[in-house]
Formats: sequence, C-alpha cells, structure tokens
Amino acid sequence: MMEALRDLSPPPRLLMGPGPINIDPRVARALSMPMLGQFDPEFTRYMNDVMVLLRQLLRTENRWSLLVDGSARAGIEAILTSMITPGDRVLVPVFGRFGLLLCEIARRCRADVRFIETEWGTVFEPEQLEAAIRQHRPKIVAVVHGDTSTTMAQPLEELGAICRRYSAFLFVDATATVGGMDLRMDEWQIDALSAGLQKCLSGPPGSAPISFNDRVATLVLQRKHIEKGIEPEAFTPAEGEIIQSNYFDLPMLMDYWSESRLNHHTQATAMLYAARECLRIVLTEGLSACFKRHAAVSASLTAGLRAMGLELFGDQRHKMANVTGVVIPEGVDGDAVRHAMLEDFGIEIGSSFGPLHGRIWRIGTMGYNCRKQNVLICLAALEACLRRQGYAVKPGAAVDAALTEGFQ
Ligand SMILES: Cc1ncc(COP(=O)(O)O)c(C=O)c1O
Repeated sequence: MMEALRDLSPPPRLLMGPGPINIDPRVARALSMPMLGQFDPEFTRYMNDVMVLLRQLLRTENRWSLLVDGSARAGIEAILTSMITPGDRVLVPVFGRFGLLLCEIARRCRADVRFIETEWGTVFEPEQLEAAIRQHRPKIVAVVHGDTSTTMAQPLEELGAICRRYSAFLFVDATATVGGMDLRMDEWQIDALSAGLQKCLSGPPGSAPISFNDRVATLVLQRKHIEKGIEPEAFTPAEGEIIQSNYFDLPMLMDYWSESRLNHHTQATAMLYAARECLRIVLTEGLSACFKRHAAVSASLTAGLRAMGLELFGDQRHKMANVTGVVIPEGVDGDAVRHAMLEDFGIEIGSSFGPLHGRIWRIGTMGYNCRKQNVLICLAALEACLRRQGYAVKPGAAVDAALTEGFQ
C-alpha cells in the first residue's frame, strides 16, 4: 500500500506547549456534527449564538462580535487590512515575536509602521506607551496582550484611555489570553480585538473570534464595496479606497453576519460549531472561575519548576497565567530534553523564537489542559529528562512542591 494511504492515527500526546492544546472532547463532538447549509435557519441561529456568547467572553456590548475563518492571524489580518488605508500610521509596541508579526502585517497593508521595543521578557509602562503615542501620533496602536514567545502579558487597563486622548484606535491581539486572563474590552476601551480557539478556549486552530466597536465600524464602512455578483441593485460604493482583500473585508463580513445575510464566503460549518462549543464551555464554567483555575495551576507549575532549581524567564510580575517560560540551565541540551519529553512521555513542550531560541522552554497550561494532573505529570517527566541529562535534582521535589504550594 502507498505510504500516503495509511490510516490516520496520530500518536496520543499531551500538548503542554504554547498552543495548540488538546481539545475538549465536547469540542471534538461538536466538530463531528452534521453539516447544515450556511443559510439554514438553524445554522444562522448558531451564528447569532456565537455573537451573543462572544460578547460575554470579551465583556463587550459590541454588535460586531463574530468569527473570521482561518487561524488567529486571519482575525488580525481582517481587522488591520480593513482599518488601515495605505499610508496610515500604525504604532506597534513590540515585546516579542507576535509584536513583530503585527508590524509585518501592518507593513503589508502599506501602513507607515512605527514601533517601540523593549527587551524580550519585559513589558511597557503606560508612560512609555503614552510618550511613543505623543511622538508618533498614530492612527492605530496595535499591541499584543499576551505574547507567547516571551510568556509576558502587557497590562492594558490604561492604554485605551491614552489612545482616546490622542485620537488613536486601539487594536489588541488577544489570541493567547482570551479565556485565560482577565480581559475587558469595553471597560479598557479596546476598539478592536482578535483571538484564536487553540489556546485557552480549548479548541482547534482554524477560527478567529474578533470584535470591534462602532468607531471601527464607521471607519471601515467608509471603504465599503460589495463584489459585483451579489451587489444589491440600489447599492452605491463608499468613497473610501476599496479594501484590498476580499476574504478579509470587514464590511462584507458585517453584511454576512447581520440580518441582510448577504453571501460572502461559505462559513466553515464545523469550525463554527467548534467555536460555539468553546464559548459555551468557558462561559458555563464562569469567567472568574476559569481565570482563577489558570492562575492556580500556573502557580503550582512554577512552584514545581523552582523546586527543581530552575529559573523562570522574564519579569514575573507580568507573566501570562497560561504560559510559563523556563530558562534552560547551563550544560543542558534544551532540544534533547524536549525530544525526550515527546519520545519517552508523549508530552510536548515548546522552545521559543529569535533571541530566545535555545534559551528557554515554554510550558502551556491552557483551557482543557490547564489541570492539576497535567502539571504533576509534566513536572515528573521533566525531572526524569533533566536527570538523564546529568542535571542534579532532588527526586520528587518538583511534584511535592507543586502539590503542597500550588493546590491548597
Ligand atoms: C499572541 C499570538 N498572536 C498570534 C498568533 C498566531 O496565531 P495563528 O498561528 O493561529 O495564526 C499566536 C500563535 O501562537 C499568538 O500566540
């Protein structure tokens, strides 16, 4: 038999990296539900459910809370491509790889991109952000909430108000924090936000929840054009420059997700079921219970890591609740440890990018995987792999510390 015809049989893995993670079985079940036509009244009801649930998750009243088909960066691209008219100035505070991604996407939208940087492992003070906004006077500030590459979370509580003072829009990439850390879109005056399913929402990659307020809706509607084959008779295109992407055109997506249900792409049916289930799972647990669980499990993981004499990476005051950076100790081959974790224990942990490649491991405790058992299993496996590399650890210390310090 041809190699490519063999049965699909992925090995069982415990995904304790920075995402994707093992999906909740309820989401797997939703993914296997029967197809419906995209204008079937039951399906459009599911679309409306997603909008309602997404508003609750993001703590927003935004009418425009919907899904973009594609991985998390599809959400980022839809928002930035629709908001940025070529030549617009965009400021990106960069504190890791995903800030660089925002610069890169904004550049492809032909923005005049300005950025400020801070050492990876640190975040910005509100005063630094305000000074940069004052200096560059951007139309849009685009920032990551939790940058999984460094495991740091940028505090955002004050940034929205600062942006309003300088008449800038605030866009936040919350892919890695939604469902794991507190996020208040309206209270924090975030104008547009994008996320993904494959981290704290316990789903697979492939759907990007987004939300934006009326300020953003007004902005993008100034560029509203509708593709010829579906254009209503009386429609006059807006004065603004046409949005260069059809797929990521927010005004057309707004028509698709509103009562007019004007056909755009074919909604990824199974991903919509999955997204709806992800949202139901988090909201049924309750947002504050869910954040508490992420914080407690992370505390237990860090207690265990410290008990092995390992150093945590970055400014711990700003560590994400759902991903932990661990400095690879001197004399230990980081990749060999990761491979042993995978080969011998079936556990995946992450390495990192750029300046942090080979310097840190990243351990995720997110969504469905954010549980006591997984932390204990992961610590026990890591200890064994480290000892085989000649790193001296008191046997059992990590699990003991995680049990006694983390889970009271
Ligand atoms: C903060 C952040 N933004 C964006 C992305 C990109 O997501 P995707 O790979 O789903 O496009 C990731 C993925 O890890 C991320 O952590």
